[in-house]
Amino acid sequence: MNRHWQEIQKKLESIKEKQLFRETKSYQGIDFCSNDYMGLTSNPNLLEYFESLKDEYPFGSTASRLVRGNYDSMDQFEREFANFVYGEAALLVSTGFVANFGLIDSIAAPDCYVFCDRLNHASILDGIRISGAKKKYYNHLDLQHLKSLLDKADKEDPQKKQKRIVVTESLFGMDGDSPDFKTLLKLKEEYDFVLVVDEAHSLGVYGPEGKGILFRDLTMDDIQSIDYRVYTLGKSFGLEGGIIVTKKMGRDHLVNVMRPFIFSTAPLPIVSKLAIFALELLRSMDTLRSELHTLSVDFKNSLLAIGFSITSTETHIVPLLLPSESEALYYAKRLQEMGLDVRAIRPPTVPTPRLRISLNAKLTKKDTEALVTALVQIRKDWDESVPLV
Ligand SMILES: Cc1ncc(COP(=O)(O)O)c(C=O)c1O
Repeated sequence: MNRHWQEIQKKLESIKEKQLFRETKSYQGIDFCSNDYMGLTSNPNLLEYFESLKDEYPFGSTASRLVRGNYDSMDQFEREFANFVYGEAALLVSTGFVANFGLIDSIAAPDCYVFCDRLNHASILDGIRISGAKKKYYNHLDLQHLKSLLDKADKEDPQKKQKRIVVTESLFGMDGDSPDFKTLLKLKEEYDFVLVVDEAHSLGVYGPEGKGILFRDLTMDDIQSIDYRVYTLGKSFGLEGGIIVTKKMGRDHLVNVMRPFIFSTAPLPIVSKLAIFALELLRSMDTLRSELHTLSVDFKNSLLAIGFSITSTETHIVPLLLPSESEALYYAKRLQEMGLDVRAIRPPTVPTPRLRISLNAKLTKKDTEALVTALVQIRKDWDESVPLV
């Protein structure tokens, strides 16, 4: 083995020792872990529409959108999506990761501050890193801390020669919580920063017609003052793709400078066609959304009543915190053996080990009750297997 492979071997051994080794594994069992929040991946209407399209559309898009990979359906989807969320323009890219990474790299630069919630998604952190901007982490959801960092930047650069950008998720994918948007927008007015909000986990699940959590908590004017909103087709849309909503000028800028947009093959043509259809489906699902909300609240209340440690939000994302990686792995393995697909999420994805339980509109009360019963049994088995010190 040469030096490279020896290094890799050592790294893998160290990952295994810390109980952080990961493997790809096909799914089975009832879905308590995916991001298919509204069940669209198996929606019969969407599948039927797919069947009707598949002879019409080629497989690959053959080139980037700036060469031969652009299709009318992509432009149409962008227009319809921008209208849906009251934005001026939208840009469709291959994934949500690409959307965050490419956007932040395009608008930030080494002479610029980016203020970032400590628990933001990796695509945001990596975008900041590649841009070379000065990265300032604020404590999770702590807008007082953000304010103090903004004040500090004002002291360092009183003439505001260096741009300030603030980036946050609107609904944190691993924690199920949200910032206080009103306070965030007040800070924006006071400090005049560029604001990027990632709506990945709330699109399709919150707000009227599933427009996102911003539409639940803010006015239209508030929402339109957000400079960039990032969405993904990979979660409640049941597809794959990323969308950036911004001003028309913002879209033109990205089309001209965003490297993963310019230098990568366009999304599959059929995806944009399916996304137009999926958007209509999602809009019509207010009843399912409200049922999912009730299911989530009931489930959380059941877990709290039997003493599990979960964060106190009322969303469909339920992080069940566990003291160690090995305990999280034990729970996940046992649940999977019982036909309940729950995964252990460990560092570096999150700071502390947990089961990330995500509920979706296809689940019933019977399913969540089965999960609660299983969790109680597993906790008992774990407690009995650990010697008292
Ligand atoms: C908050 C957030 N933004 C962006 C992404 C990336 O989206 P995609 O899976 O479409 O690449 C994720 C993925 O989990 C996410 O959690």
